Amino acid sequence: MDIEQRVAAHYGDEALGRRLLEALALAGLDVDRLSPDELAPVDEFHVGGRQATVDFAEQLGLHPGLRLLDIGSGIGGPARYFASAFGCDVVGIDLTDVFVRVATDLTRRSGLSTRVSFHQGSALDLPFEAASFDRATMIHVGMNIDDKAKLFRSVRTVLRPGGIFGVYDLMRTGLGDLEFPVPWSNRPETSFVVEPAAYRKSLEAAGFAVVVERNRRDFALDFFREMRAKAEAAGGTPPLGTPLIMGAGFKEKLRHAAEAIERGVIAPIELFARVA
Ligand SMILES: C[S@@+](CC[C@H](N)C(=O)[O-])C[C@H]1O[C@@H](n2cnc3c(N)ncnc32)[C@H](O)[C@@H]1O
Repeated sequence: MDIEQRVAAHYGDEALGRRLLEALALAGLDVDRLSPDELAPVDEFHVGGRQATVDFAEQLGLHPGLRLLDIGSGIGGPARYFASAFGCDVVGIDLTDVFVRVATDLTRRSGLSTRVSFHQGSALDLPFEAASFDRATMIHVGMNIDDKAKLFRSVRTVLRPGGIFGVYDLMRTGLGDLEFPVPWSNRPETSFVVEPAAYRKSLEAAGFAVVVERNRRDFALDFFREMRAKAEAAGGTPPLGTPLIMGAGFKEKLRHAAEAIERGVIAPIELFARVA
């Protein structure tokens, strides 16, 4: 298996769609009429959940009519939020076939299919026309991609002049080992966490001007504290949460990510870049 096949195998779990719908129904939701807000506890697969997406979106200058590409769209939480909150047309692309199918199904159940669609494919070889998007976003995906220079060249090609690219990834901020498994990888071979400076260098080489860099460490520490408090109050894992996507071993994966952020080894960082 090559790296991309291994990454897709890490995330892909055929039982995910059924598991999610069962949990949503058990929580008393009508699974045939779901809103992006109802889905938020389960479909935002990154540090900080929906609040992180809200904060990130504020810096993208979104408005109705914009065409946005969400790279590594997962099961579609951020894509549905961008479309429902700002009226953008959103296309998601993701390596993991199961995620694309679940994202498409949840979007239909949320009544957003006319404005949001998902495709299976690689961020390193985007199957879209040049200059066909106004915005591109990438949330917690770069940790699975080694060749960031190629990744950012591919994103640059599909963006229009003046386009904005927002990245929100876990990046290396200090010395020390990462303990595996983590939510994005069970082993070091499919984990490519690098410093913000390496992102900036590859973005600039691809023709972007980086305009904002924001470290979200404190926000992340609050998020993990709140997650632990909710688990304590629920007497275990709350019924709706990202553990549903992470499946087996989620406690260890989350603990390793939270500890690495606490130790200052990694931090969730936003970067916003303009087509130069
Ligand atoms: C941690 S999840 C984040 C999902 C989503 N962005 C979110 O925040 O909810 C990482 C996603 O990146 C996707 N991914 C990883 N490498 C990729 C690549 N080379 N091309 C496209 N998608 C990729 C995975 O399949 C997975 O869905």
